[in-house]
Amino acid sequence: MRFPNSFLDELRDRVPISQVVGTRVTFDRKKTNASRGDYWACCPFHGENTPSFHCEDRKGRYHCFGCGVSGDHFRFLSELDGISFPEAVERVADMAGVPMPQRDPQAERREQERASLSDVMEMATGFFQSMLQEQQGAEARAYLRGRGLSSATQQAFRIGYAPSSRNALKEYLAGKGVTKDQIEACGLVVFGPDIPVSYDRFRDRIMFPIEDARGRVIAFGGRAMSKDVPAKYLNSPDTELFHKGTVLYNLARARRSAVKGEPVIAVEGYMDVIGLAQAGFENAVAPLGTALTENQLDLLWRMSGEPVLCFDGDEAGLRAAWRAADIALPLVQPGRSLRFALLPQGKDPDDLVREEGPDAFAAVLAGARPLADMLWMRETSGKVFDTPERRAELERNLQALTARIGDENLKRHYSQDMRERARAFFGGNQAQRGGGRGFREGGIGGGIGGRNRGFGGRPGGASGRLAVSESLARSALVRSSSPTMPLREATLLVSLVNHPPLIDEYFDALDQMLLASAELGRLRMAILDAVAHNPAHDREVLLRKIEADGLLPIWQQAETRVKSAYMWPALENAALDDAREAFAQTLHLHRRAGSLHKELKAAELALANDWNEEDARHLVEIQAELSNLQATEALIEGFGILSGRANRS
Ligand code: CTP
Ligand code: MN
Repeated sequence: MRFPNSFLDELRDRVPISQVVGTRVTFDRKKTNASRGDYWACCPFHGENTPSFHCEDRKGRYHCFGCGVSGDHFRFLSELDGISFPEAVERVADMAGVPMPQRDPQAERREQERASLSDVMEMATGFFQSMLQEQQGAEARAYLRGRGLSSATQQAFRIGYAPSSRNALKEYLAGKGVTKDQIEACGLVVFGPDIPVSYDRFRDRIMFPIEDARGRVIAFGGRAMSKDVPAKYLNSPDTELFHKGTVLYNLARARRSAVKGEPVIAVEGYMDVIGLAQAGFENAVAPLGTALTENQLDLLWRMSGEPVLCFDGDEAGLRAAWRAADIALPLVQPGRSLRFALLPQGKDPDDLVREEGPDAFAAVLAGARPLADMLWMRETSGKVFDTPERRAELERNLQALTARIGDENLKRHYSQDMRERARAFFGGNQAQRGGGRGFREGGIGGGIGGRNRGFGGRPGGASGRLAVSESLARSALVRSSSPTMPLREATLLVSLVNHPPLIDEYFDALDQMLLASAELGRLRMAILDAVAHNPAHDREVLLRKIEADGLLPIWQQAETRVKSAYMWPALENAALDDAREAFAQTLHLHRRAGSLHKELKAAELALANDWNEEDARHLVEIQAELSNLQATEALIEGFGILSGRANRS
């Protein structure tokens, strides 16, 4: 029987080729890179001792560099096992858990219809493309030029123009012998029982063809040029060819560059994908105006182990990111996760590359955070954990989150990671520190203790010393002589000046705060001074005092530092409650870091004088805590969000 192509495609999509091949060969562990879907083995078709047989999940193909055989899932099984093609199909269908199609003349006819619909979409694409070059397309051409799209880009994405007419496309297609039913089935006209004469769905719009995974046009997105049209974008309705939630814009082209090993990037809009491609990032895809679906995540994972999801840096973007994290959580596995990149406020990737160039976007990508950071941040941002109840609540929430991970092994690692973060975040309390250098009880200690057991168990001190100095070298702390103003300190002082009621509440804290920056130390003096001489202080008064002391440049530098890290709650426009909450949290981190630094110095000193295992272990412990703390901070800085109710100006 003849299988519908869509059925074979589905099988090839559902079952990674490595799974099929893996039933017959043992993959070479050294050469294989499973997280990239890249597998090597000794060729089952000819005898060999070194692996030259390669299969790649992304391409769904195998190839032997030794004997030259190659093919897909079905060919592999039929050639190796000497079975017929339908038998091979049946085996793969079995693996996929998909029932074999009944021999169904109707289904076969539908398959033919799909093929013909595909032809119709192709004709429509050509029509829109040529309209863009006609006189009627002049305004559209000007619009695209105005948005900086080169004609090469326009051609690569097959951008077109739907003229302002109710029947231009309809008549064009009819003239080519396309039936009314086909035009309707393609979603190209608006029709229905109460519409006497169907009419072109897309009118006076820039047309973006949407392609399936093989690069065949299956739908359109149409962008209005004039502002007074109710919908900026109009998409094709779902049709036989097109199911919105299972398609990603630009998938076929992005896959081509994913094959070269670049991670796929998911952005929000068509124009983002196109703008990025023109700027050299050809590996971006977009959902079609909806939040990412599970199905679309699967598509991403088929292309790369750790796709980067890119969101707007505002609250809506953050919510979207969290939604994606939630969908992903049950599905993540070792080698199959996500990273999250947040854009600067109010800029989409298209704006960013156009206004600031490719490097600006590359920097956003470089700052992408792993899923675990994202989850941790959601649970902790804008909150203060100053009571046992609140800490217990956080712990419970984190547990509930990790429990949703499907993969058992990964779940274990996640819960360990979250506990370590929580411990670093809360800091060792008095009881723990009072206990001296002993290990902390509980599961978290188990994690770090585990590392230390291995380390301490090595015979001789020399290798132990090495382990310490290696991790010291890696520690950001050792290289912490950063030339910029320390963000945390700047944030604390800027918050106070912008929200003077906090000065009263935190007067002692301000007075005793450890400030590494001498300049900020002077700013603090000015603030303390101003408050001491003027009980009815407000922001203006403080600023005048700062100016009078000649500290305005320092103030400006501090404020700029805070702004560029998007620490909104510290800025003038933030609500006092938000500012207070963020201040308390920042202060907590600051104090914790301060005492850790002291402990670290002491431990280093002790070790320098006399190397011993106990101090070495303690040092590693402090370092782990500090680096967790720094990760938490970097996270806050990178995302620029301390409070869920961030205030924007
Ligand atoms: N979208 C939609 N309907 C709308 C608005 C948006 O379907 N009324 C979808 C489109 O897929 C669009 C995506 O949501 O690409 C993101 O929207 P937006 O950022 O507004 O679009 P851009 O692609 O950035 O387009 P432009 O820059 O031209 O505004
Ligand atoms: Mn845009």
